[in-house]
Amino acid sequence: MAFPFLSFLKRSQGPEAPGVHPQPFWSFRPRSDRESGDAIVSNFALHMFPAKVSRASLAWKYSFWLGTGSAALFLLLILSGGPLLFLYVPSVERAYASIKDIEYVVTFGSWLRSVHRVGAHLMVVVVALHLVRVFLTGAYKNGVGQGQKREWNWVIGVFLLLFTLLLSFTGYLLPWDQLAFWAVTVGTNIAASIPFVGPQVRELLIGGRAIDQPTLIRFYVLHIVVLPIAVGALFAYHMWRVRKDGGLAAVDKEARENELQEAPASSTKTYTLLGIARGTSPVIKATSISRLDKMVNAVPDLVRRANLVTLATIALISILATFVRSPLEEPANPLVTPNPAKAPWYFLWLQEIVTDTTIKIGSFTVNGAFVGGVVLPGLLVTLLILWPWLDRSPKEAAGVWFARARRRQNLVFLLLCAFVLTLTFVGTVMRGPYWHIYWPWEAWPDIPGRL
Ligand code: HEM
Repeated sequence: MAFPFLSFLKRSQGPEAPGVHPQPFWSFRPRSDRESGDAIVSNFALHMFPAKVSRASLAWKYSFWLGTGSAALFLLLILSGGPLLFLYVPSVERAYASIKDIEYVVTFGSWLRSVHRVGAHLMVVVVALHLVRVFLTGAYKNGVGQGQKREWNWVIGVFLLLFTLLLSFTGYLLPWDQLAFWAVTVGTNIAASIPFVGPQVRELLIGGRAIDQPTLIRFYVLHIVVLPIAVGALFAYHMWRVRKDGGLAAVDKEARENELQEAPASSTKTYTLLGIARGTSPVIKATSISRLDKMVNAVPDLVRRANLVTLATIALISILATFVRSPLEEPANPLVTPNPAKAPWYFLWLQEIVTDTTIKIGSFTVNGAFVGGVVLPGLLVTLLILWPWLDRSPKEAAGVWFARARRRQNLVFLLLCAFVLTLTFVGTVMRGPYWHIYWPWEAWPDIPGRL
């Protein structure tokens, strides 16, 4: 070829399936296995997929494609956040006014802001649901393949969830209105309750004694540079691990049913390791199933579904954003405390525990902020990270919904989820002025000077 750098346009040489003519580009509608494989190797984005995947791992009712949904939401947040970067000004004097401009002056600004905000809230929900599905299918367990380290993908996942929460929390402050200012005040005050070093930790978080310009610039840089890069890099590693682990855990169930097959050494091929060690191909045990009737081509089967999930997610958020207006309250005012002052909804279960564990016994007060805001979430995250090593169920329980061998732990996990959901509901809907409980249909009393 005259221009070697354009060689990706040329199909590789080799026998063609009858009636198949070379095409300059890869196709979503391959007419042979060969064309399907070519689509993977000649497209940068598709490189992350293997050429063939098991039919079982594509089933909607196995994964509900929640991981792909999370990735689609992340993509949408990057796409909608880009234009907002040109319009938002990260200064305490101008942040509120710039958001007001986006809301009322910029063409489609209000819709764009809603896409970003609705997408961010939904990403927290979808990533959490993905974690629940992975737990209930025991998908952090290794099955029959060699060299699997699914427990590490679970650990990466826990960090992805934490970073998703942080992304949302840092974005919360940016409008610099009362809602933002006091939600972040409540959130960061919890850090101040750590014994001995609390005030210093809070100071490090907000860049001073009070929430002000240094806080805004810290949260802004974390929100637009540090955390998106961290999530992007961890996501790439997450996907690489799925491949290294032989695909989703559903594959292992299939593989067990089909018994591992030994691939005989090839007498014609020779392998070298960086040209140092020479030898013929070793006998390998397939990591995944080798029966072809259980496999499908990644192009089009996997790619079509991934595209469908991505487009459906984008369509859903775009439609929702036309109906849901993003809130913008009065400009931030450190002198006027809203009553009640609430953390963002995904931290309200913690704020609820903080309230419930602040107990007075005579002259002694239990430090609820430390118990509920630091010790409990710290223990929970540590337990989550260590769980794959604590779960002693057999490997037959990997990739199976509600496996009998994991019945008890699934039940405890679901009870824990119900506990968190109930507290979130109480904090969001039932807490009123002075943090008193009100039924959803009860009217709140008028508080003088309440916003
Ligand atoms: C930004 C957040 C995340 C993204 C974008 C993401 C993306 C994905 C994707 C695309 C898959 C392929 C299967 C599927 O669609 O379900 C997957 C699998 C997996 N994810 Fe995530 N994930 C995220 C967070 C998490 C979390 C919070 C956990 C758990 C703590 C987790 C643990 C796993 C595991 C263990 C697998 C393999 C599942 C299996 O073998 O069935 N991920 N992830």
